[in-house]
Amino acid sequence: MAYWPAFKRDQKPGLFMARDILVTSALPYANGSIHLGHMLEHIQTDIWVRFQKLRGHNCIAVCADDAHGTPIMLKARDQGITPEALIAGVAIEHQRDFSDFLVDYDNYHSTHSDENRELSEQIYIKLREAGHIASRTISQAYDPEKQMFLPDRFIRGECPNCGSADQYGDACEVCGSTYQPTDLKNAVSVLSGATPVERESEHYFFQLADFEAFLHDWTRSDHLQDTVTRKLDEWFTAGLKDWDISRDAPYFGFKIPGTDDKYFYVWLDAPIGYMASFANLCARRQKEGDNLDFDAFWGADSSAELYHFIGKDIVYFHALFWPAMLEGAGFRTPTAIHAHGFVTVNGEKMSKSRGTFIKARTWLNHMPAEFLRYYFAAKLSHRVEDLDLNFDDFLARINSDLVGKYVNIASRCANFITKRFDGQLAAQLDRPELFDRFATAGDEIAEHFEQRRFGQAVRQIMNLADEANAYVAERAPWQIAKEDGRDVELQEVCSTALNLFRQLTIYLKPILPETAGRAEAFLQVDPLTWADLGTPVTDHAIAKFKPLLRRVEQPAIDKMIEASKEDLAAAAAPAAAEPSTENTNTAAAKQNTPKMESADDNGTIQIDDFAKIDLRVARVVAAEHVEGADKLLRLTLDVGELGQRQVFAGIKSAYDPAALEGRLVALVANLAPRKMRFGVSEGMVLAAGESPHVLSPDDGTQPGEKIK
Ligand code: 2FM
Ligand code: ZN
Repeated sequence: MAYWPAFKRDQKPGLFMARDILVTSALPYANGSIHLGHMLEHIQTDIWVRFQKLRGHNCIAVCADDAHGTPIMLKARDQGITPEALIAGVAIEHQRDFSDFLVDYDNYHSTHSDENRELSEQIYIKLREAGHIASRTISQAYDPEKQMFLPDRFIRGECPNCGSADQYGDACEVCGSTYQPTDLKNAVSVLSGATPVERESEHYFFQLADFEAFLHDWTRSDHLQDTVTRKLDEWFTAGLKDWDISRDAPYFGFKIPGTDDKYFYVWLDAPIGYMASFANLCARRQKEGDNLDFDAFWGADSSAELYHFIGKDIVYFHALFWPAMLEGAGFRTPTAIHAHGFVTVNGEKMSKSRGTFIKARTWLNHMPAEFLRYYFAAKLSHRVEDLDLNFDDFLARINSDLVGKYVNIASRCANFITKRFDGQLAAQLDRPELFDRFATAGDEIAEHFEQRRFGQAVRQIMNLADEANAYVAERAPWQIAKEDGRDVELQEVCSTALNLFRQLTIYLKPILPETAGRAEAFLQVDPLTWADLGTPVTDHAIAKFKPLLRRVEQPAIDKMIEASKEDLAAAAAPAAAEPSTENTNTAAAKQNTPKMESADDNGTIQIDDFAKIDLRVARVVAAEHVEGADKLLRLTLDVGELGQRQVFAGIKSAYDPAALEGRLVALVANLAPRKMRFGVSEGMVLAAGESPHVLSPDDGTQPGEKIK
């Protein structure tokens, strides 16, 4: 994908043109800690930004905390503090985490800021004046005790589709259907336990469909990854819906101009937070006498590049609402949206109970930040795919690549220079053509970094490290050192190896900035840039070599996992009282914002995913009505070697329970047990159709047999 004119990318001396580039990561919510899921994105962003800076471009990275919304308001209320106090504390924690992970934002701000208020009002007013805002009265669930409207995630009840109990107001976690909270049966407010009532209120809507033609074109013009464009196609087909951008008081956010008690929905002002953080940086720089111009980056005719790094779950907001808002309000639109997948650990979703839901701080307490940066880089691509942090692979890769290959080059040669040549590198290299080849490889490595193919960049860098090690092994300085009269050769061989090490340091610098700093101190050179690749350091004094990195040991990993389980235990008490928040990506469902999160790039799952499902034949031993449930039958199933299971199935409308007894059914046997109002359901029976009817294996199959 070409996002900028080719001539701008030319790195040849004399032709170099510095690009103006503004980069953002998604703004983390100010009501929780940063964890490895966040870190994937912030590390990806930081590597890309550091690469651009290393190449000499004017690249600026901004971020902020996403500070508004009901959950933040309620969390502050629970803690007996103001939302402002809550978000101030979280802001410090977040920034410390990012900084300790060497994620270097030029500015880190908050969506609860003057700049964001002004810009949000300005954008809203422009959209309203251009006729893109509508208002109408809608009916919503209201908690009569807490006296507030309830976001979908704050209502629970029985799924209108399958009858499963204790489901959120927007989507059923058992059958996956989405619906309106008013469709839930026996709904209760998570906040008070009261039964929600219907109440009307006036809401404001952004008319996304006004931008259909613009978006249709924009989403097909190299601003998005192909898989994202394909996903958006489905949403276009479904029709672009009006977006509800207002919330009633009480709400922590910005009041909508011209209203007394309506607030901007958190997702309206969140992306505007990108602009606000940049505006705040401009003001700061201007005070320092540096003229950073807001309009040069955000004006409709800006020639700067603008990139948003985001997770695949918030594509709808960034690829539809956001460009439409910018276009409608007369600003430039993004050059590209770069979406990434989710982090899994050891092949599974991050899990609090397994200790794999690892907070950034917990990682930092046990492991160097750069190891995660390197591992993520080694596995990141430009595609929207999930990334698995496999700890066996992690340990092997860090120890073999970084310690065994990269650092090894310096540690094998440095002492000869120190001890035999008073720290002085030779005046010329033993193998200049090898040095030149390492420099030439930079074009391809740069292209990989540029296109976010970090894994491919790392592979190529490690191939070079292999070559450098092979060169050292072939020239065997330790042998040369034993022989009289070969001092010049010894100095030139070691100087060559150290120059190769220096080139590898440049390539790795976006990923390992701290180690690169230590390598620079050892080589006694100024901060390295991409332009240094082609010129060797010769006739130059270096410092005594000190180990640059230590190996990863399994006990450190074990301790980190244990500590993550303890984090969970510490958090369990307050968290239990809290609903899963509106400030999660599942709020997408409410906003008619389909998600990309469960599907692979092309909407398919891999055979490995399918293989995780343990499908078994089961015989219905007993089937009975469940008191108080409209759709459920309680089934007692014989699953052969797996014993008996109790399963609640939403099939009441299709069966007289007695008719089911003795029948064979297909059971998902390894579904996590689910506590329902009526008891625990230990699996799911497959069924089809509206009624629905169970799928029956042929007679002749036996309970407990695997279905393949
Ligand atoms: O999904 C989230 O975590 C949001 N806080 C991301 C906001 S990104 C931007 F729009 F501000
Ligand atoms: Zn359901």
